Amino acid sequence: MSLTCMKSCFFLPFLLLFSLSFKAHPCRGSDTIFPGQSLSGNQTIRSDDGGTFELGFFTPGNSRNYYIGIWYGRLPTKTVVWVANRDQPLSDPSSSTLQLSHDGRLVLLNQSKTEIWSTDVNSTTPDSTIAVLLDDGNLVVRGGTNSSSVVYWQSFDHPTDT
Ligand SMILES: *[C@@H]1O[C@H](CO)[C@@H](O)[C@H](O)[C@H]1NC(C)=O
Ligand SMILES: *[C@@H]1O[C@H](CO)[C@@H](O)[C@H](O)[C@H]1NC(C)=O
Ligand SMILES: *[C@@H]1O[C@H](CO)[C@@H](O)[C@H](O)[C@H]1NC(C)=O
Ligand SMILES: *[C@@H]1O[C@H](CO)[C@@H](O)[C@H](O)[C@H]1NC(C)=O
Repeated sequence: MSLTCMKSCFFLPFLLLFSLSFKAHPCRGSDTIFPGQSLSGNQTIRSDDGGTFELGFFTPGNSRNYYIGIWYGRLPTKTVVWVANRDQPLSDPSSSTLQLSHDGRLVLLNQSKTEIWSTDVNSTTPDSTIAVLLDDGNLVVRGGTNSSSVVYWQSFDHPTDT
């Protein structure tokens, strides 16, 4: 039995359980970063369809450079589809954070709390602005949980060629 097959045979039941439990107990926040929350280390958010897309820190190959990216959450090998801080890698994801700033931008801070990357548009509703990873892999920063809230920034407008 190939390693890939063993992996998928092993993981498939868990994936099914995972998506079922998602349907049964829709857990708010798993696809969203809310004001006051942050991602660090191996924490991720996953699209609400059971995790087709996942966002978090990753390191390509054996490098010690860390990036915030979006990858296919259900593939055994990490296939990155979007990268935020392409030109400014981080060295320590556990003390770096992706969070919403007080002016309603999504910002990536390094160990010294210096902004390494951010969405460039100020929101007019900073206190309710959230970041959501949508089922199509688009990361949006928008004015609230309502899906018709105004979108201030979206990763689809900032493609990267991975
Ligand atoms: C995530 O990181 C924590 C702390 O470094 C570690 O204890 C945990 O095992 C990690 N989880 C996974 C799934 O890698
Ligand atoms: C954080 O980023 C700033 C600006 O790029 C840099 O001067 C500083 O050394 C970085 N801190 C760490 C701990 O890497
Ligand atoms: C966002 O607003 C703050 C406060 O008004 C301002 O200092 C900052 O320069 C603005 N940032 C951008 C990218 O427009
Ligand atoms: C979302 O916003 C739309 C348009 O403003 C409104 O009609 C709808 O009721 C809102 N939905 C929720 C769940 O608040």
